[in-house]
Amino acid sequence: MMQRCFLVLIWWIQAAQSSPCAHRYYGNDHTVCVCNSTYCDSIPEYDFSSASSYIRFTSDKAGQRFEKSEGFFSYETTPECSTRLFIHSTKLYQTIQGFGGAFTDSAVMNIKSLSKDAQENLLSAYFSMKGSRYNLGRVPIGGTDFSSRKYTYCDNADEKTSKLNFSLTEEEYEGKIPLLQKALELNPELRLIAASWTAPAWMKTNNDYVNGSLKEEYYQMYTDYLLTFLEEYRDQGLGMWAISTGNEPITEYLKYVRINSMSWTPAAMATWVSRNLGPTLSKSRHNQTLIFGLDDNRGHLTSFYEEFLSYESCTNYITGTAIHWYQDDTTSASLLDQTHYKFPEKLLVLTEASIIPDTTKSKKPVSLGSWNRGERYMLNIIENLEHWIAGWLDWNLVLNQDGGPSWARNNVDASIIVNPVADEFYKQPMFYAIAHFSSFIPRNSVRIGVSQYNKSTGIKSVAFLTPNNEIVVVISNTSTKEQQVTIYDLHKGHISVRLEAKSFHTLIYKQLLCY
Ligand SMILES: *[C@@H]1O[C@H](CO)[C@@H](O)[C@H](O)[C@H]1NC(C)=O
Ligand SMILES: *[C@@H]1O[C@H](CO)[C@@H](O)[C@H](O)[C@H]1NC(C)=O
Ligand SMILES: *[C@@H]1O[C@H](CO)[C@@H](O)[C@H](O)[C@H]1NC(C)=O
Ligand SMILES: *[C@@H]1O[C@H](CO)[C@@H](O)[C@H](O)[C@H]1NC(C)=O
Ligand SMILES: *[C@@H]1O[C@H](CO)[C@@H](O)[C@H](O)[C@H]1NC(C)=O
Ligand SMILES: *[C@@H]1O[C@H](CO)[C@@H](O)[C@H](O)[C@H]1NC(C)=O
Repeated sequence: MMQRCFLVLIWWIQAAQSSPCAHRYYGNDHTVCVCNSTYCDSIPEYDFSSASSYIRFTSDKAGQRFEKSEGFFSYETTPECSTRLFIHSTKLYQTIQGFGGAFTDSAVMNIKSLSKDAQENLLSAYFSMKGSRYNLGRVPIGGTDFSSRKYTYCDNADEKTSKLNFSLTEEEYEGKIPLLQKALELNPELRLIAASWTAPAWMKTNNDYVNGSLKEEYYQMYTDYLLTFLEEYRDQGLGMWAISTGNEPITEYLKYVRINSMSWTPAAMATWVSRNLGPTLSKSRHNQTLIFGLDDNRGHLTSFYEEFLSYESCTNYITGTAIHWYQDDTTSASLLDQTHYKFPEKLLVLTEASIIPDTTKSKKPVSLGSWNRGERYMLNIIENLEHWIAGWLDWNLVLNQDGGPSWARNNVDASIIVNPVADEFYKQPMFYAIAHFSSFIPRNSVRIGVSQYNKSTGIKSVAFLTPNNEIVVVISNTSTKEQQVTIYDLHKGHISVRLEAKSFHTLIYKQLLCY
């Protein structure tokens, strides 16, 4: 009895501490959670009131955001139900590295457009223990299409003497570096993945930031440029966990939009990695920095990427594969399985996802509060995790209400949108879709098996075993009607939950260790 009172007290304190979503509605079930300099909703803490209890967090189209509830496993017979999920906690798949987003110049500018206190709330929403607990960040090396200008760190080099005249820019010192340092303070587990969009224009065949390829005589100098970036960031306390071979080397999309880019053939890239990038890094202080290949859509895994890795001199330097999501609706996720089974020791990380407006319908890039876009993120994360992806990163952490700035006018949507005039920022359903994973699945969790009977109901699920021996099940219901689901765990019994129409759920329970 004493214990129960104590638990009730803890529950009351926790309930009092968590802050609910401050909704703003935009019609058609579109809703965001508004944060400002004094207020931001947070993710409730949880604890289990008994060994048989589970905690559920629910978000749905109707407006729930991380609603917490507790229920209990039982062995009693259950009523007929349409969907059954069986958790197989001994069937182990990939180890999870984490979740995160990109520190583009645009993201940094947008964060800085808010007051200091609102900036704190925003970083806390992404990186703190009360927030999404992001533990992966992508860091562009130089400018991208989400910068206000085109630049690299070596635009003024003297081509005749061919000296590398490297300097970080105002973008770095005024924003990107301090914000990265702050994020790392909020979550010391944060790991960074660097990627360059292009070499300095004068090292390229077309002397431009867009398209063209690296001249062979500059293979080593460009490598030294990347190494200098790693050195300078490390001097700021920002060591890079990984560096990619370069953003989107297959430049076919330049038909649609001209953005910072540099194209490679698989053979040229293999030569550069085996002669320059690989040996230079392994001889440097950055010998522990992983090298990720591809950094492009999964449709290129079997063509470009397999040819690239077929050059034996370079394959040993490549420790992981970075993949973008832009072909996920038109290519099969089985391509990820193929890559995993061919190269089982290489990590698979999805390094970029964003919602591009349908320009044929002259749609605006930002659709504030769209549940549909949140659902696209949710389903994509589940699908990728089911196919060996160990980490999933959003693109720009923060954009403005036009989905920019972007010098290339390549505006897109983002999980957080700022309104500097009102000193507010808006957490969209996409933010919560990612947080249903990132807040509850710490690094080194392992994906475990779930088998589902009756798949006709719009239910998707994926499950994990965490290093704290918790089982985390993420379930989405894309159907427009509410429905009953029963979840079976051989060692705990079963639970029956009603899943709201158009909803995301994270269920957490303690694994029974002594059976
Ligand atoms: C911030 O948001 C909270 C909750 O919506 C509101 O009560 C408060 O007035 C807002 N503060 C400012 C400075 O706008
Ligand atoms: C599958 O769902 C339908 C409709 O919800 C139900 O009638 C049927 O009995 C279910 N089948 C199984 C095997 O659970
Ligand atoms: C190096 O670049 C800086 C600007 O980034 C410029 O001021 C300086 O003149 C350059 N030095 C040489 C030797 O080109
Ligand atoms: C980019 O380069 C490729 C190959 O050199 C070429 O086919 C393509 O037309 C170029 N695109 C643009 C926009 O310059
Ligand atoms: C990596 O570099 C460190 C120094 O930064 C050195 O102590 C270590 O031996 C190097 N490891 C390898 C495998 O070269
Ligand atoms: C999901 O929601 C839809 C719409 O309310 C409902 O028909 C369906 O039964 C729900 N599915 C589950 C498994 O709860």
